[in-house]
Amino acid sequence: MKIIAANWKMNGDFEFTDRFVREINSVAPKNVIVICPPAILIGKFRDFRHQIGAQNCFWKESGAFTGENSPRLLREAGCRYVILGHSERRSIFHETDDIIFEKYKAAAANDLIPIICVGEKDPKNREEVLERQLAPFLKEPLRKAIFAYEPVWSIGTGITPTRDETEFALEFLRNRVGDVPLLYGGSVNGENAAGISQYKNADGLLVGGAGLKIEEFKKIILI
Ligand code: 13P
Repeated sequence: MKIIAANWKMNGDFEFTDRFVREINSVAPKNVIVICPPAILIGKFRDFRHQIGAQNCFWKESGAFTGENSPRLLREAGCRYVILGHSERRSIFHETDDIIFEKYKAAAANDLIPIICVGEKDPKNREEVLERQLAPFLKEPLRKAIFAYEPVWSIGTGITPTRDETEFALEFLRNRVGDVPLLYGGSVNGENAAGISQYKNADGLLVGGAGLKIEEFKKIILI
């Protein structure tokens, strides 16, 4: 059984969500499915038979933080998971490794399972970047968490790392974070999902664009 998470990013809409919920409810995957829609769509998943996650959260319970969502409210809204440290949050919203660690602690304290994304912009710097991004998490014993290896150069490009590269990165993570689920993300589609999910140390996939194509996503979750 694999974990298949889908990050809709700032895509999807109300009508599409209704159709998606109906269609995906009609298949019976043996894998754990986690859909992470834009926060405003979370309420549309009330009848969904699978899991819901958020794409981000703040690290405080409440207060003067215009535009943010607290982990507690996301949990109340029905989320079980939250993606943290996605490369788009790191690069566009300037999230640092320490900020991501604060969010991780707040999410875990509110019973959300954080899906922490790590990955390099340039394969030449893979080890150095992964080491830096993981560093805050290695200072104390890890609570509940999932890590996703998402090489930035693979996101939205249709290019995936070789099997050796992915297995190297997953083993690198495994040796540091231990026995927590590890996902691969970056240009996963209906054709490559089954193969990648069989790589050593791959406990599942984090899907982007293909998570918004209903027929293709069905293929992925039925691997
Ligand atoms: P793509 O699958 O569209 O490359 O996106 C991956 C991703 O960023 C998932 O978080």
